[in-house]
Amino acid sequence: MCGVVGYTGIKQASAWLLDGLQTLEYRGYDSAGIQVVSPSGNLHGVKCAGRVTTLRERASVANLNGTCGIGHTRWATHGAPTDRNAHPHLDCSGRIAVVHNGIIENFQELRRELMIAGHEFRSETDSEVIAHLVEEAWAGPARGDVARAVRNATDRLEGSWALAVVCADLPGTLVCTRNGSPLVVASTDDGAYAASDIMPLASVTSHVLQLQDRDVATLSPDGSIEICDRDGRPVAHPPSIDIDWDASAARLGGYSDFMAKEISEQPEAIERLLAGRLGKHGIELDELSLTREELSAIDRVVIIACGTSYHVGLTAKVAIERWARVPVQVEYASEFNYNEDVLVTEHTMCVVITQSGETADTLTAARRMRGMGCNVFAITNVLGSTAARESDGTLYIQAGPEVAVASTKAYTAQMVAAFLLALRLALAKGLMSPAEVEKHFHGLELLPGLMREVLSRRWQDKQAARLFRGKVSSLFLGRNVSSATAYEGALKLKEISYLHAEAHPAGEMKHGPIALLEPGFPVVAVVPADHVRDKTVSNIMECIARGATVVGVATDGDEQVAKLCQEVLWVPACPDPLLVPAIAVIHLQLLARYVARDRGFDVDKPRNLAKSVTVE
Ligand code: AGP
Ligand code: GLU
Repeated sequence: MCGVVGYTGIKQASAWLLDGLQTLEYRGYDSAGIQVVSPSGNLHGVKCAGRVTTLRERASVANLNGTCGIGHTRWATHGAPTDRNAHPHLDCSGRIAVVHNGIIENFQELRRELMIAGHEFRSETDSEVIAHLVEEAWAGPARGDVARAVRNATDRLEGSWALAVVCADLPGTLVCTRNGSPLVVASTDDGAYAASDIMPLASVTSHVLQLQDRDVATLSPDGSIEICDRDGRPVAHPPSIDIDWDASAARLGGYSDFMAKEISEQPEAIERLLAGRLGKHGIELDELSLTREELSAIDRVVIIACGTSYHVGLTAKVAIERWARVPVQVEYASEFNYNEDVLVTEHTMCVVITQSGETADTLTAARRMRGMGCNVFAITNVLGSTAARESDGTLYIQAGPEVAVASTKAYTAQMVAAFLLALRLALAKGLMSPAEVEKHFHGLELLPGLMREVLSRRWQDKQAARLFRGKVSSLFLGRNVSSATAYEGALKLKEISYLHAEAHPAGEMKHGPIALLEPGFPVVAVVPADHVRDKTVSNIMECIARGATVVGVATDGDEQVAKLCQEVLWVPACPDPLLVPAIAVIHLQLLARYVARDRGFDVDKPRNLAKSVTVE
């Protein structure tokens, strides 16, 4: 979490720092701050609790003269989201400023030690120790060398960090390093830039460098970047990553919020993902680093993910087990990391699903699987992300930047990517002929059109949203592959509307959750035309018998469901019921957004959350 930016060059720093923070705000928005160094060697800054817009107002009345600076937008881990805890943090002299993304696990002992040595702390954050450690090093052997001071300081740290550091005694020098948290740097004609991800840099360059863990980069105003390893030995620049979308992709472009924009972008995202995937011999999935023989030998798949991506995993399980007849285990990364080792054979495949490619829990789990000798395949959206770099093969879903904290287009694109993988496995195993694979692929190609149809029915979601007025809780139900859709619908609703929502496989309701029901209690039942539709209809009857208000997600023409439910969110008939989750979920995304807006909330930046969860 947290967004970090840094700039040194020929322009005034504060304008880009503020723009960069605005772009990174999806990573955290508890507080924000910037510090710039003036050419004459003075540090000036502003920081405050709340959003970047508030920081902008404060910055506009402060005289932030300086062509080198750093900035931060925070998702608090240690210490409340207050002005004092906002980054940048300064050392005792007020001449060294640090921004940090990550968690310093040994901060308590370091803080104690530094306090005994006379350092004064102004915040409750773990991050502030870094400023004082740099100060210690600067006062000692590293005087005059910020990079060395940063190296000495980070040698004392345990945990994860992406850091940008400036020092008033060396105006123009910006030092960055990382361990576990993401950080990219870029060299341009008007200076050198650093940021937590490529998004803020898309407006200034089309090439960025992803720093390797523990490497320390020194950025200079002429745009040059020197990188050294943790021992101070110069290292070659890592291969540069091309930014292949233009900066406007991360702007609203006429939509009122990013969530609305990203929900609408789903059909195009799927079209991009499917383009060129059907070859002469079936599905083209060269990203898999396995030969056909190796693929055909796969006898188990372990899928690891968090949150929305985990729900993709649940859908993928049904597809892989149905089409490729391979048993699939889906694990929450955060749980998996502390469970006993899973059974791994040389034929086990690990699939990690992560939109950002930076989710700390997922990365730890993937490393663990690799450590056990497992081939790891990543499905991700972010080019050059850690998950992509650390995996044996990576399938980019190419959904374009997803800015809203609530994931929407990445959900459906990751799901279609998993469908491609399932078909590829089925083909390799000889369970489907190329002709059958082609037929299924044509089914996938229908999805963008079906999605457009669902999007044109958004008025149904707007209408259904009214049923949630004044409610405090809700229940989402679905069976088989629709249970994953129900989980995802409930997650969407609670994360942006703060209305309690829980999801259960519809058949499990009678084992407990049914006790929640009372007259007017809202239930959303995902009940498309498939082999379990009749069973779910019976569960809807059970809800209605207890006075619940049921919103159905049903296939066009299902009159029985229409009669039973207060509102129906209609999905067009789909040739393969297995593909319905990719279109049904769009109604639930829209429903959540309408409920949240009805309740007056900012749908893009829900409270307490951040887009990219780079801490455990
Ligand atoms: C989605 O709406 C969430 N905000 C969240 O659950 C997210 O899916 C999760 O943190 C995983 O992120 P990732 O896909 O980037 O790994
Ligand atoms: N631990 C730091 C803080 O609480 C940074 C948080 C983060 O990067 O998520 O301020």
